[in-house]
Amino acid sequence: MTVLAFDVYGTLIDTAGVTGRLSDLVGDRAVEFSTQWRLKQLEYSWRYGLMDEYRDFRICTRQALDWTADQLGCEISDGDKDGLMDIYLELPPFDDVIAGLQRLKALGVGMHAFSNGVPEDLELLIHNSGLEDLLDGIVSVHDLKTFKPDPALYHYFAEKSGADLSSCWLVSSNGFDVCGAVAAGMKAFWLQRNPAIRFDHWEFQPTHVVVNFDEIADILSRGITRE
Ligand code: LAC
Repeated sequence: MTVLAFDVYGTLIDTAGVTGRLSDLVGDRAVEFSTQWRLKQLEYSWRYGLMDEYRDFRICTRQALDWTADQLGCEISDGDKDGLMDIYLELPPFDDVIAGLQRLKALGVGMHAFSNGVPEDLELLIHNSGLEDLLDGIVSVHDLKTFKPDPALYHYFAEKSGADLSSCWLVSSNGFDVCGAVAAGMKAFWLQRNPAIRFDHWEFQPTHVVVNFDEIADILSRGITRE
């Protein structure tokens, strides 16, 4: 059975959803701030992972927020930072997600969120964004206390979803996640959310490059019809 593993932040959910509130706090530096914050958040996950000093993704996110404010010289009070962290639990899905997941669900494939986020945050986020009924479950890296792209996590996903690794497809806009999944033995859609970003010139390449969820449904429906 085909099982899809949806990356959450940046793939299902738009982390740029914080820019509205950031505009109130840092004015026209909101996009720069949001981009730096996101990159630092991921960098912290990789560093803590390599150091074997797991700190959960909420901690990575908050520490990256503190660093970004400091680095960009933006004065943001602790209360306003808490407010930004709360917005992270209510970020919106990208426009193509709900209709795309509905099409994919109709194909009868397994569908799970698969994320660096902590389980409680992911449950709230998936609930608040209206995706709960479209997904079969949530697999969080928190269970293994390590971060993507640790290969153990892709194997863990297959184990949790009850499928062979080779029947699991990662869906992610994050190139590092796609490389990790393919290297571990999964297939992967790279969802090119940002047309300006090129894929890594590595030997681990996505099985398909797509620009929205509709294309994923098109490709899988052709494959499933052939089976
Ligand atoms: C996630 C990060 C990588 O949701 O975006 O796992």
